[in-house]
Amino acid sequence: MLLIDGKKTSEEIKSEIAARVAEIKVEGGKIPHLAAILVGSDGASQTYVGAKVKSCEQVGFQSTLVRLEESVSEDELLKVVEEINKNPEIDGLIVQLPLPKHISVEKVTNKIKPEKDVDGFTPANVGRMTLGWPAYVAATPYGIVELLKRYNVETSGKHCVVIGRSHIVGSPMSILMARNEYPGNCTVTLTHSRTQNLAEITKTADILIVAIGKPEFVTADMVKEGATVIDVGIHRVEDSSKKSGFRLIGDVKFDEVAAKASAITPVPGGVGPMTIASLLYNTLLAAEGKVY
Ligand code: GUN
Repeated sequence: MLLIDGKKTSEEIKSEIAARVAEIKVEGGKIPHLAAILVGSDGASQTYVGAKVKSCEQVGFQSTLVRLEESVSEDELLKVVEEINKNPEIDGLIVQLPLPKHISVEKVTNKIKPEKDVDGFTPANVGRMTLGWPAYVAATPYGIVELLKRYNVETSGKHCVVIGRSHIVGSPMSILMARNEYPGNCTVTLTHSRTQNLAEITKTADILIVAIGKPEFVTADMVKEGATVIDVGIHRVEDSSKKSGFRLIGDVKFDEVAAKASAITPVPGGVGPMTIASLLYNTLLAAEGKVY
């Protein structure tokens, strides 16, 4: 069984990005600059945004963190987005989700200039990705594509089953895996919470990508011998034997599925670290004008 090490791969990508930034400095080019907007004080969001800012420092990017009160109005937030859209110093902008209920995610997402949308969430980038045009691809699916590539997972003609149809992961993943390029050329089945006979379908998957958001949902009996299994889930469960009092698990029951799989991503250390590497990569593309 091959352990697909997202932590190691993400460190490699960050080194490659840092090396490119060093070259840009020598060339006197534009140092990539990422801006992140964080609304409110949600614990997980603070952790994620903190990790993104820290990773920017690691690779030599500039970063700006704009923190807004939970009570900020939608108009005020839209104004901040517009200011960043117009700021030529800033190459990439992300608005950390979720947003408070009184703010429309659609309106805010649609306000982000597609040229700076390094999360790949705007209709323009989703459309471009779907058409196979140059686009910012959302960080999680992009990270998975990169893992499959770097681990030389054979995809052409394979049956790829995706569990979960979110805009951020499942839907774009299904499109990328069906594309006429590597890694892609799969026959794709996109499944979700209403799918009937799910296990019958997942058992036929050569590549199984799980983004359902349910702890240890996929068990060994749902997986074909020799499948490649990609686990997007991340959940905290109490564990008194740990110093922290908790441990992290995925959407896949790791030990029993790993015994059957030919390759599998662990949680933590699989898909998670790749998402930040993808975001940094998109920001580099933005600074170098490689997409638009
Ligand atoms: N919340 C959960 N995942 C993401 C992400 O990839 N980008 C942003 N902006 N917010 C998120």
